[in-house]
Amino acid sequence: MIELKSVTKTVRSGIEDLTILSDVSLEIPEGQFVALTGASGSGKSTLLGLMAGLDAPTSGTITIDGDEITRMSEDDLAGIRSAKIGFIFQSFHLIPSLTAFENILIPMEIRGAPNAADRANELLRDVDLTDRGHHYPAELSGGEQQRVAIARAFANEPKILLADEPTGNLDSKNGRHIFDLMTDLHKRRAVTLVLVTHDHALAAEAQRQIVLRDGVVVSDESGRDAVTGMRDATRGPGDAETVRRGDTAKGDAEVVDLAT
Ligand SMILES: Nc1ncnc2c1ncn2[C@@H]1O[C@H](COP(=O)(O)OP(=O)(O)OP(=O)(O)O)[C@@H](O)[C@H]1O
Ligand SMILES: [Mg+2]
Repeated sequence: MIELKSVTKTVRSGIEDLTILSDVSLEIPEGQFVALTGASGSGKSTLLGLMAGLDAPTSGTITIDGDEITRMSEDDLAGIRSAKIGFIFQSFHLIPSLTAFENILIPMEIRGAPNAADRANELLRDVDLTDRGHHYPAELSGGEQQRVAIARAFANEPKILLADEPTGNLDSKNGRHIFDLMTDLHKRRAVTLVLVTHDHALAAEAQRQIVLRDGVVVSDESGRDAVTGMRDATRGPGDAETVRRGDTAKGDAEVVDLAT
């Protein structure tokens, strides 16, 4: 569960204070798929960054699974991020001096994950970049860099995936593929997915759509599958497991298994 209470973010701009987010309160239950939309400059990236603890609010509190991240030390925050959160930045944030393979490997090496190299190769394959592993970010197209960033975010099998326009730099075929990888992860492993997107067709597939305007939540609506999302939140872990196994059983064999 991600919980925001009266979150406000103000920055100093020249001599004035600029309010980027104003009194945002949200509860995102575990396993929910939320689409976050809104015009450019409405505060989407800022909100996502706050949820990941990459930035601190000016006032208000943010809690992840009961831990108030707004009161944590940098070290504790880094621990939570590494253990629970996968973040896909709007501007990739790949490490330029590392190859695609190494960029994907690094979060797993930091955590001391077993078979990290095999897993990095698997992830490269999942995003269709098997033959680009030895390339540096500067040698990759925007869409390819985005796919490396996505594979990196998946590396530690996060329970929370925060994705800032992950399909924005991709053509519709690759965009759909990446979208499917993310929603598979959400369905099969009950991953909480918060997806910032300008693509209304993709947003419509979420269980819930939150719209920001000028830093304020102007709409928060549950869609078709919302009932399932809500029920999942109140279910015990055993029940959630059953739901997921059910999903997998009827899921097609082509689904790339990011879980193993
Ligand atoms: N550090 C900062 N200092 C001053 N203004 C900022 C800062 N960070 C963000 N802003 C402003 O806050 C507003 C919200 O920015 P944000 O990046 O969250 O928007 P967004 O909804 O993600 O937009 P886009 O769709 O273009 O990515 C923008 O007007 C931006 O210029
Ligand atoms: Mg943005």
